Amino acid sequence: MAIGVFDSGIGGLSVHHALVARLPSADFIYLADQAMTPYGGRTGQEIVDLTRAGCERLFEAGCDLVILACNTAASVALRRLQQTWLPGHRRALGRPVNVLGIIVPTIEAATGLPWEHEAERRGDKVEQLDVLGVFSTPATARSRVYEIEIDKRRQDVAVFSEACPNLAHDIEADAPEAALREAIEGHVAALTRRIGRPPDRAILGCTHYEITAGMFRAALPPGTPLIHQPGATADAIERYLTRHPEFEPGDGGTRLFLTTGRPGPQNGLVERFWGAPLVFDPA
Ligand code: DGL
Repeated sequence: MAIGVFDSGIGGLSVHHALVARLPSADFIYLADQAMTPYGGRTGQEIVDLTRAGCERLFEAGCDLVILACNTAASVALRRLQQTWLPGHRRALGRPVNVLGIIVPTIEAATGLPWEHEAERRGDKVEQLDVLGVFSTPATARSRVYEIEIDKRRQDVAVFSEACPNLAHDIEADAPEAALREAIEGHVAALTRRIGRPPDRAILGCTHYEITAGMFRAALPPGTPLIHQPGATADAIERYLTRHPEFEPGDGGTRLFLTTGRPGPQNGLVERFWGAPLVFDPA
């Protein structure tokens, strides 16, 4: 089988790159839904339908395991698809398939705790709060997934999400660096005003933002640690494959890149995400 990696566009290539580096002999198929990107301003139902279509396409292409390298799809659609669609689809395909996201690995990295760990709620007063900022699309921020899941595990971490409405779109559209920098400074300033002080740590909760990590770092106080989703996801998927030998990731080292958008050689931005020129095939 191959491992499928799905994103609304090219942002997921940052996660894909880390997965390929970690599992060099595995076979991978990356699918970018560029015809419908960005997802961040869409309704929940649209995000569920588009994510399901992406997973179906990857299963059809021979993947048994699909990773949603997209916070918006993972936070809005993953649980719903796992509960309502995947069991029946698995039966229809007649083989064990699964879909995983990037939120769980990110929360494990942010809390330093395994996902299964849920803290016992205690009434003790927390002396020192660790303030964690999450920059994301509006749909991810609306889902409150980071607030809810981190609060279940760590009473000493306070999470504040800042929705960055057009940032993924502007990154996907290869907007000039000065415009991206100005937008990012505005989002960091807005979050800082809302909290009353800068966050102690930050999650770039949209895979598109990884390429602008330097701009976030420059806008935040010097030395603010950033939690990186690509490395956290690669760690988690490696552990998952060890626990689930039924998902054998292939050994041909093949890489196929599909897009619902414009196939063919991609622009310089794709090259920056991936580190080398890429040619996409039609999905
Ligand atoms: N890169 C995706 C994410 O992590 C989606 C951005 C979008 O399509 O709005 O949220």
